[in-house]
Amino acid sequence: MTTDQDVALHYRHGTLLQTLLAAATAMGKDPARLQPADLMGADEFHLGGVRATRDLAAQLGLTPEMHLLDIGSGLGGPARQLAAMSGCRVTGIDLSEEFVDLAVDLTDRMGLADRVAFRQGGATALPFPAASFDRATLLHVGMNIADKRGLTQSVHRLLRPGALFAIYDVMRCGLGALDFPLPWASGPDTSFVEPAEAYREALTEAGFTIIAERNRARFALESLAAARDGRGSSGPPSAGSASLRPAPSGPPPLGPGIAMGASAGRKIANLTSLLERGVVAPVEMIAKSAD
Ligand SMILES: C[S@@+](CC[C@H](N)C(=O)[O-])C[C@H]1O[C@@H](n2cnc3c(N)ncnc32)[C@H](O)[C@@H]1O
Repeated sequence: MTTDQDVALHYRHGTLLQTLLAAATAMGKDPARLQPADLMGADEFHLGGVRATRDLAAQLGLTPEMHLLDIGSGLGGPARQLAAMSGCRVTGIDLSEEFVDLAVDLTDRMGLADRVAFRQGGATALPFPAASFDRATLLHVGMNIADKRGLTQSVHRLLRPGALFAIYDVMRCGLGALDFPLPWASGPDTSFVEPAEAYREALTEAGFTIIAERNRARFALESLAAARDGRGSSGPPSAGSASLRPAPSGPPPLGPGIAMGASAGRKIANLTSLLERGVVAPVEMIAKSAD
């Protein structure tokens, strides 16, 4: 099995769409006419949820004429959020067929299919013509990609001159072993967490200039704490809290934990401990291709 196949297997759920729709229905939502907020952050698979996506988008100067590529688009929450915020067109690409099918289905239900599309594929051999996008985003995906240089070169080829590439990945900040499972990997074979320096080098070598960088450890820990306390800072109220508590019965409550399956609690606990000990942190990086 290739690493890409192992990564896709790690994210395989099997019944994720049905589980999400059942949870939304149990919360009184109409599954045929979903609004992005109805999922309460369950389709944003990264630390800080919807707020993290908005914070990243705020630095991208998005306009309705632009076409953005979201690499490792997951359940499609960030792609839909970026399109809804700015009116831009978004194409998402992801290794997981289950996630791509689910993202297409949810986008259709939300009436965004005219602007947001998804296809299956890998980040280091992106199947698009050169210079076809104005912006690219990568949220919590690089931890699954060993070849950071291949990634940045692949993205650089697709971007028009002066375009921006925004990364929001979990990066290594200190010493210490990673305890598995983590949200992005069941074990070390598919986990490629690197320090910010590795990203900087790969971006610069590919022809990008890094124009902004921000460590978001405190924000991530506050989001997790708010979720535990039921304050839900990562989106609508209780988005995170629901995900971290076991359901007494019936469909699992809506929240980012749904996509992580049965071991969600352990994955979140392991990641929280690594964040608290300063071993890893989510870092934003905005890179610009030459004019
Ligand atoms: C933690 S999820 C993040 C999903 C989404 N970016 C979000 O923030 O909601 C990581 C996603 O990256 C995808 N992925 C991992 N490695 C990839 C690769 N080499 N090419 C494309 N997608 C990849 C996974 O299938 C998964 O959907």
